[in-house]
Amino acid sequence: MLNGRIMGENRSMPRHVAVIMDGNGRWAQKNGVSRLTGHNQGMLAMKEIIKKADVMGIKYLTVYAFSTENWKRSQEEVGGIFNLLVKFVGSELAELDENNVRVHILGEYREKVPAAAIVSIEKAIETTADNDGLQFNIALNYGSRAEITRAVKRICRLVENGDLKPEEVNEEIISETLYTGSENGNIPDPDLIIRTSGEERLSNFLLWQAAYSEFAFTDTLWPDFTPEEFESIIEEFSARGRRFGGR
Ligand code: IPE
Ligand code: IPE
Ligand code: MG
Repeated sequence: MLNGRIMGENRSMPRHVAVIMDGNGRWAQKNGVSRLTGHNQGMLAMKEIIKKADVMGIKYLTVYAFSTENWKRSQEEVGGIFNLLVKFVGSELAELDENNVRVHILGEYREKVPAAAIVSIEKAIETTADNDGLQFNIALNYGSRAEITRAVKRICRLVENGDLKPEEVNEEIISETLYTGSENGNIPDPDLIIRTSGEERLSNFLLWQAAYSEFAFTDTLWPDFTPEEFESIIEEFSARGRRFGGR
């Protein structure tokens, strides 16, 4: 019966898919190459998933690229990851723009991030600002607790300035004040969060937004993750029943 609900009907296609791209380091170790080579392979996998999501008609794709905790890694690895981002924008921006993809960044990308990466990021945001196809969100220097803390501060300021009463604070205002809120076009909560590499945790990703998300975990290491596996996870998702607390 469930198989009858096929993708063609588009009924239960996720609107927003978020991906925790994990396992680059273990892939590198397994293949006897440097961690940075692993991250490079991970970037190649990401390119394919962006294309696949676009072709499948998914409206929002969010990828977790660098967390607020990832600064704990060696300078060499951190620098290498941001260099890859610059390389990604350099090689992909024209095609993303041609395909009507819009790039958003979730996170404090102006803080601590190397200058060259900030320049690339801003170029990507500006170039694609008018595009209304796939909304591709990169979580970068992103941490959900930092995001919520920042939102609380902003709301406190509104109250302090007399623009909002404490009793007027509600879930909608909090949602709108997060990175996924009005500053990035009000991205809907993720319907599905995929994490690769066998780890089954959120690692400070979209804590508020994930309240009713479905989860899919795969042992595949991110650089080995293919568009075919992505599609089969989406198909499995579309057969799930979501109740949101109702019957
Ligand atoms: C995910 O791969 C990429 C980032 C966190 C930047 P990892 O680098 O975390 O890979 P593992 O978990 O060490 O295998
Ligand atoms: C989460 O992966 C962050 C990204 C994928 C960018 P980590 O590898 O940093 O998470 P932990 O340390 O395993 O929780
Ligand atoms: Mg990891």
